Amino acid sequence: MSDYTWFEGIPFPILGYKKEILTETCNKFVIRDEDTIIVTYPKSGTNWLVETVSLIQSKGNPECVQSMPVWERSPWIETEIGQKYLISNERPPLLISHLPFHLFPKSFFHSKAKVIYVMRNPRDVLVSGYFFWSKSNLVKNADSLSTYFEWFLKGNVAYGSWFEHIRGWLSMRGSENFLLLSYEDMKKDTRKTIEKICDFLGKKLESDELDMVLKNISFKAMKENKMSNFSLITDDMIPNGLVLLRKGVTGDWKNHFTVAQAEAFDKVFQEKMAGFPPELFPWQ
Ligand code: A3P
Repeated sequence: MSDYTWFEGIPFPILGYKKEILTETCNKFVIRDEDTIIVTYPKSGTNWLVETVSLIQSKGNPECVQSMPVWERSPWIETEIGQKYLISNERPPLLISHLPFHLFPKSFFHSKAKVIYVMRNPRDVLVSGYFFWSKSNLVKNADSLSTYFEWFLKGNVAYGSWFEHIRGWLSMRGSENFLLLSYEDMKKDTRKTIEKICDFLGKKLESDELDMVLKNISFKAMKENKMSNFSLITDDMIPNGLVLLRKGVTGDWKNHFTVAQAEAFDKVFQEKMAGFPPELFPWQ
């Protein structure tokens, strides 16, 4: 068995992804004007943002996030299971995707649909990804962090290169229907990020509603919510299960990179992200 499902030169996880579905999503999936889509490179805080936007949409009422698994209420458009729910259910208020810019459904580019793109320090994305994937059989498993480190820098990990993902999506900067957020800003001032999202979506929350959103998106609340913490994915579905809410902090890479790795990463970052203002990246 191959280590990945390859599509257009990008490695996708082996389970839950099919070439036909990826082809269909990319070319034929119809994004509607009223759609809101969260787009991220994996391990950037996708599920945190999904919970946040879902709770904004429900005005802080947690029933929606406590009664339905995240993959059913906010389908991942490029996955087998996401497409299953999109076909069988009514259109949900929120969609998710990890697709790189050049593979995103073509219909989006003629629509008024809104994309919220969340980025995170790629060093933390790397560490989070290593621990998340390493024991699963979803992707090619790295025997050590240093192996995964090498693969990550070359883009030989699920969803390909972080640098290409970011470069592609940052080309949407300045578009009316595109909101750029970061995991770091969300950690630093969660309330302010919620307010930004509300402005972008044209939603107004009363202060008690905003407090309810804050309460239900805390690391602790999400870790205890079985509809959001991936504990419904049992060992017989994916060996060793998947721990989504691991640490939930910024800068954990410092506990894992050697000095040489930190320097090598800096060098690649400077090369690949040349031309972008450093202040765009709150972790730099
Ligand atoms: P760590 O592995 O560094 O802990 P994604 O949803 O894109 O897969 O991202 C997962 C990362 O987001 C994990 O990072 C996870 O802990 C973090 N995360 C999820 N919910 C969070 C929350 N409520 N607060 C802070 N971090 C959260």
